[in-house]
Amino acid sequence: MSTGHSDRQSSTRRVTAPDIRARKGADTPIVALTAYHAHTARLADDHVDLLLVGDSLGMVLYGFGSTVPVTLEQMITHGRVVASAVRHALVVVDMPFGSYEESPAQAFRNAARVLKQTGAGAVKLEGGARMAETIRFLVERGVPVMAHVGLTPQSVNTLGGFFAQGREEEQWPAIRADAQAVAEAGAFCVVLEAMAEPLAREITKECPIPTIGIGASPACDGQILVMEDMLGLNPHPPKFVKAYADLRREIDHAIAAYAEDVRARRFPAPRHTYGMKRKK
Ligand code: KIV
Repeated sequence: MSTGHSDRQSSTRRVTAPDIRARKGADTPIVALTAYHAHTARLADDHVDLLLVGDSLGMVLYGFGSTVPVTLEQMITHGRVVASAVRHALVVVDMPFGSYEESPAQAFRNAARVLKQTGAGAVKLEGGARMAETIRFLVERGVPVMAHVGLTPQSVNTLGGFFAQGREEEQWPAIRADAQAVAEAGAFCVVLEAMAEPLAREITKECPIPTIGIGASPACDGQILVMEDMLGLNPHPPKFVKAYADLRREIDHAIAAYAEDVRARRFPAPRHTYGMKRKK
């Protein structure tokens, strides 16, 4: 199991769910990112341990107002292209809203489709104690599960918005119980989303599986961000995002320069143009 960048680059074996599980409490945090397309997944694969084909693609790629409209077919399509592009990282595909909540049997049927049709190594689903029975059912039948507690965006219609969780101590017992329940049910790691730092720290201390934070402080065993957010493509990123590039500006400049060149007939230049073949 690799733990660092150079070690990781020399490795050709795919990271597995048990590899991630074994990183609980390790000195080097787990590095995770979302990916929805082959070309960005290939780039990220050189640097990360885990790539999540998140249902955030509904908002980031498809322009929906939430992740609720995302379909299983969309997740399978993007899961397949990411999994086929990646050589090293563990690929995890999100189960979309409505594809797993009804019963453990429904969850298994759809999770099996995801693993068979994408080549991913695991699925992720949202929910704590209420999903524990389903997580156990899946894990016992060969489906590795990444859990997700704290802010669970698929519940936006009952939550009333995307709010940070655990900022009042009265909320702590339920969220701690959620993390404990998914760990006991057999999840190999758990995403803590948009969570007050002291709570994330407490959960990371007491939970036997790695915690992967997104807006949940450096106390977690690993970190994940939405790739488009950290590349600076989101004009209104959440507070917890650090932009490592300003691709919105870069793309805007590049397209403006292209449009100017075309209008001024500077593009295409002779080097972009085919001549005739010489006759022998
Ligand atoms: O869908 C997603 O991208 C996620 C991450 C934010 C963890 O669930």
